[in-house]
Amino acid sequence: MVFGEFREILFFREVKEMIEFETELRARLKPDEAEKAWAETFEYIKEKIPDREAFLKHLEDYAQNGKPVWYAGRNPCCDDLSDRQLVKAYANLFRGIEREKMLTNASWATHINYYAEKVLECGKMTLEMTVGAGLGTAAVASKMSDSDFLTCVDIDFKCAKNADGILSHFGKRGVGIATSLWNLPFDDETFSTVCSHFGIDECREIDTVLSETVRVLKPGGRIVFASNESGYRRTKHYFDMYGIDRTEAQNLLKQVRHYADKQQIDDIMSKHGLTEIDYKSFGERYVAVYKKTHK
Ligand SMILES: C[S@@+](CC[C@H](N)C(=O)[O-])C[C@H]1O[C@@H](n2cnc3c(N)ncnc32)[C@H](O)[C@@H]1O
Repeated sequence: MVFGEFREILFFREVKEMIEFETELRARLKPDEAEKAWAETFEYIKEKIPDREAFLKHLEDYAQNGKPVWYAGRNPCCDDLSDRQLVKAYANLFRGIEREKMLTNASWATHINYYAEKVLECGKMTLEMTVGAGLGTAAVASKMSDSDFLTCVDIDFKCAKNADGILSHFGKRGVGIATSLWNLPFDDETFSTVCSHFGIDECREIDTVLSETVRVLKPGGRIVFASNESGYRRTKHYFDMYGIDRTEAQNLLKQVRHYADKQQIDDIMSKHGLTEIDYKSFGERYVAVYKKTHK
């Protein structure tokens, strides 16, 4: 099962219990009563982690002992797919039209055309990390030329199948692969571009994700990220529960190797010898492009 990366950080030692809780919750309340499901999730967290001291201890434990492995049990072989998930994955193959509508109606997504243009500027072999609902995939696929090939990965099999559906809807070449970003199943220097649309914001173990990204990128290739300026935006409700403010939260996010802000990405990129060649702000969001000049 795939659940939120921050909950996986907090409960990496109690993941089986968390899965049982979420499975029951999803069956009972989702998709119709999503708000109630969130309220019950936060009650559960507060019951297990009652105060600020316990919360900080959980984070410190993860910072020291957490690893880039899928604690929730998913692995690249997709061996935990239920029949229901397979049915959903098959249905995703036909949802390209919905993604096209989402793009057309996405007035909030002012960055999306810019992102797709930057992704396609630099070459024919592109890797997209984290398909998710497929908004980024659809933006790129809709603008691809016939000689482009888009490889799309996500740890969630259903999301990987979203990519297949979107690509076939737009009549473009590519493939969706269910795998983890921590151990990409590709040779070194395979891709001319690696991109992610709000993916690095939601993945644990940012350092490992970025070193894999750089490994599979060809010299001269580019990395294009659309991200939130701050990782606090998505995780605020957890920190609020324990009276932790934004500055402290951002430091804690960095300590547990979760996406915190752009500066953190810049620092890791420059450690790998990559330079930023383009940056455009879209309010709370941005699109940034990095270039790999070395072998
Ligand atoms: C917010 S979604 C990405 C949004 C999507 N790109 C879009 O534009 O609609 C985040 C996705 O990251 C995936 N994910 C999280 N951690 C991952 C990992 N370590 N490896 C691969 N995929 C991961 C999740 O399964 C989820 O589908």
